This record gives sequence, C-alpha cells and structure tokens, in this order.
Amino acid sequence: AAAGEAAAPQFKHDIAKVGVVGTGTMASGIVQVFAQAGYEVIYVGRSQDKLDGVVGYITKNLDRAIAKGKGTEGDKDALLGRLTGSTEREALGGVDIVVEAIAEDLELKLELFGDLDRICKPGAILATTTSSLPITKLGEATGRPQDVIGMHFFNPAPVMKLVEIITTSATSADVDETVRALTANVGKVGVSAGDRAGFIVNLLLFPYLNDAIKLAEGGEELATIDAAIKETAAFPMGPFELLDVVGNDVSLAIQKELHGEFGEPGFEPAATLVAKVEAGELGRKTGKGFHDYA
Ligand code: CAA
Repeated sequence: AAAGEAAAPQFKHDIAKVGVVGTGTMASGIVQVFAQAGYEVIYVGRSQDKLDGVVGYITKNLDRAIAKGKGTEGDKDALLGRLTGSTEREALGGVDIVVEAIAEDLELKLELFGDLDRICKPGAILATTTSSLPITKLGEATGRPQDVIGMHFFNPAPVMKLVEIITTSATSADVDETVRALTANVGKVGVSAGDRAGFIVNLLLFPYLNDAIKLAEGGEELATIDAAIKETAAFPMGPFELLDVVGNDVSLAIQKELHGEFGEPGFEPAATLVAKVEAGELGRKTGKGFHDYA
C-alpha cells in the first residue's frame, strides 16, 4: 500500500456461504448484495410468503436492471440459483457468516442471537445490521462475543455504498478484518464506527428527519421542505421522500433509541411520526406515508 494508505483487509476466515435472517426491505436488499457478489445465500424468514417476498424484491430489481441493458436473464437465473430460502433457523448451521436484519427490537434480536449461538458452527461470524441497538448486548447473548459484529447497511442496500462496521470491546481483530474484506468484496465502502446508538450516519440523519416533521407540524408544506433540501444541498431526496423509503416504523424505532440513549429533549419522536405508524402509513412499502404511492 502507498504511504498513508491502510493495507487492504484480508479474509482471516473463509466466507463462501452467507446466511441472512429477515425478509423485510433491508434483508431482501442484503440477500441481493451477497448473491450478486457470487456468494451462496441461505435466508430465513417466518413464512413461505415472506420468503417469496424476498425473491419478488430481487426479481423486480433485476428485471429493472435488465430493462436498462444492465445484465441478462442468464445473470438473473444464476443469481437466483444461489439463493436458498428456509423457514427454519437450523438451516444456518453451515454458513460462514450470518447477517441478521429482523425488526429493530432488542428482545427479538437477543432471542435470535441465543439461537444463532446454538445453531451456527463454531467460528461462524454473527453480524447484525441493527441501526441503533447495542451490539455489545447482542454479543453478551451468545457464548462467543468475539464473533459478534455490526454490519450496518443502508436502504436501498443494493445501491447505497456505505456499510458501517461496528466492533464491540469483545469482537476479535480477525472478525473485524474479515468483515472489512467481505464488505469490500461485495463492492461496498466500509467505515468503522463506535457502538453507540445511531453509529455515525443515523445519529446525524434521523434527528434531521425528525426535525423536518416538526417543521411541517409548524405549518410548512412537505413538498416545499423536500424541494428546498434537494435543491440546496443536492441531497438525492427530500426528508419526507427519504422517510417514506426508510419506513416510518423503522424511523420511529431509531428515533426512540436515540432519544433513550442521549436524552436530548429535541430527539423526542415527532407526534406525526408516531401517528403515521399507528395509522399504518409506513411509507412506500404500504403505498402511503408522508406522500402517496398509489
Ligand atoms: N433497489 C435496488 N436498486 C434500486 C432501488 C432499489 N430499491 N432504487 C433505485 N435503485 C437503483 C436504480 O435501478 C438505479 O440503478 P442504475 O443506475 O444501475 O440504473 C439507481 O439505483 C438509481 O436509481 P434511479 O435513477 O431510479 O433514481 P435516483 O437517482 O433517484 O436514485 C436512490 C435512487 C439511489 C434511492 C437515491 O434517491 C438516493 O440515494 N436516496 C437516498 C437514500 C438514502 O439516503 N438512504 C439512506 C437511508 S437511512 C438508512 O438506510 C438507515 C437505516 O438504518 C435503515
């Protein structure tokens, strides 16, 4: 490596088979990322319907790419051929790394990590894509905290380049380096971040999104705020467009964690965000959020 440039991370563990737990937007995108990079992916969900949803998400993305002249039907079939869905966590017994992308709920994740500890082979890396929950606690739910790490992707995972890599005080250096090598190998940019709620990006991003909602509650038009931000800062989306992509349920869970951890009065979730979630207006995935997608 040139002076001042860190040496490229190396694989200290062999990674051939990747497990993904979850079937939501993030999980589906993460399954696509690994399969696209040539990995065999075993993904686990709670029902056949949800497993089918993952294939549906990926197929739609690949069809859109093919329509734009990027990739062929053959590439699509090869990619889909690397996927195996299962409703049983036991299917993860042989994978080299699991990336967990279930709901942003600590109790659910603690229970899952206990199961992964029991099911996964010794030396398998247990990664979480949580955006705001303490990874240290997930490590402590296992008998192998040295193998537990954060691998935080952004939505839409197939497009967004960044992956925050979060080690705890227990994570081994080899696991950290392997995950950094894997991140580079799937075409992403890894950035190390500390194990605090929100890491780097969400700690800065979600208070801004929450403030945008409060601004609208004060009477400013959504479309005006979206337009102002897009035109001024060249953000790719205005705050309400982005909230609808991320999902209001996800945004509320993140904002609650940030409020709980930092206690900043301004971090209290905006009333309209809470109301949207209660009304089931979660964003693009339900056809209505701050904007309509009918
Ligand atoms: N899945 C896969 N690919 C997608 C996609 C999706 N959901 N949406 C768009 N794309 C692809 C398109 O196919 C297109 O690919 P090509 O260039 O290869 O043709 C590319 O992305 C650009 O898409 P478009 O031209 O249709 O639209 P765009 O230029 O508006 O880009 C966008 C779309 C990339 C989503 C862009 O609007 C953007 O960057 N938005 C901001 C997203 C963001 O900030 N995400 C972070 C959210 S925070 C978070 O994720 C935290 C968390 O913990 C959940």
